[in-house]
Amino acid sequence: MNRSDQPWDSSAPEEPLLGGDVTVGVVRSGDTVRRPRSASSERVRALLTHLERVGFAGAPRFLGVDDRDRDVITFMEGEVAGRPAPEWVASDDRAMSVARLLRSYHDAVASFGVPAVFDDAAPALPEGAPEPVPVPLELIGHRDVTLENVVFRDGVASALIDFDLARASSRVEDVSNMLQWWAPWQPVEDRAEVLKGVDAFARAAKMLDAYGLDAGSRPMLVPVARNAAERTWHTMKLRAERDGGGWRRMWEEGVGDAIRRRQSWLQENEEALVRAVM
Ligand SMILES: Nc1ncnc2c1ncn2[C@@H]1O[C@H](COP(=O)(O)OP(=O)(O)O)[C@@H](O)[C@H]1O
Ligand SMILES: [Mg+2]
Repeated sequence: MNRSDQPWDSSAPEEPLLGGDVTVGVVRSGDTVRRPRSASSERVRALLTHLERVGFAGAPRFLGVDDRDRDVITFMEGEVAGRPAPEWVASDDRAMSVARLLRSYHDAVASFGVPAVFDDAAPALPEGAPEPVPVPLELIGHRDVTLENVVFRDGVASALIDFDLARASSRVEDVSNMLQWWAPWQPVEDRAEVLKGVDAFARAAKMLDAYGLDAGSRPMLVPVARNAAERTWHTMKLRAERDGGGWRRMWEEGVGDAIRRRQSWLQENEEALVRAVM
């Protein structure tokens, strides 16, 4: 593979990669993925380079930039949930393997610390948004562990992709983000069809055990989930207004109302959720 400082060539045939919400123009070219450079490019480059250095196999490698000013990363072979989500996302074994993958990511990223390149990664708190629940900013979290951002091989979660939202965070915040999508901690009406029948309480408990979340962090999960939902509403609104594109489309499609419904669901189910995670 080309690892020189020369830009990568982009003459090979390309195939659009769909399934994401935000990034326009993600394509596969041979065994690489090309993503238009963005505000997060330098951070993601530093992060992927660290993960390569420590030998973490569960993330793409950063390879360089191509002659069309796109970041070049490795294509991670395997299965990724598209939309509608396939039947297999309902498998508890798959969900538990996502939790194990997130744990191994955290263990690999811990030695990266919180480098200065991430200093401006956190969006300013929009007006009216609550302060974050105080958690230690101990590592660079992925912060977007959606159904579409995990690659599976042989039925086991093998790689995280899409590190655009990565920033200083805590294990418990990332675990809470994962539970939102994979338990899922969402009202039934807003879940992927195949997840409507899943017991989100029992499944969260299994995922936490698979992750190996310590007893001291568990009481933080539900408050962090509620706080994140509330802040996300404000952040998504700001991004829709300021950044437009996929953010605006999601807002117009009602993502704000869905977040409000999730907030209500978390509130109504608070006691059962706390019991499930302890
Ligand atoms: N490195 C990769 N290896 C395999 N598939 C990828 C890779 N990067 C992206 N994809 C595929 O492209 C889709 C969209 O890419 P993603 O980086 O998640 O963009 P978005 O920011 O739009 O969510 C993913 O859901 C996945 O199916
Ligand atoms: Mg994505």
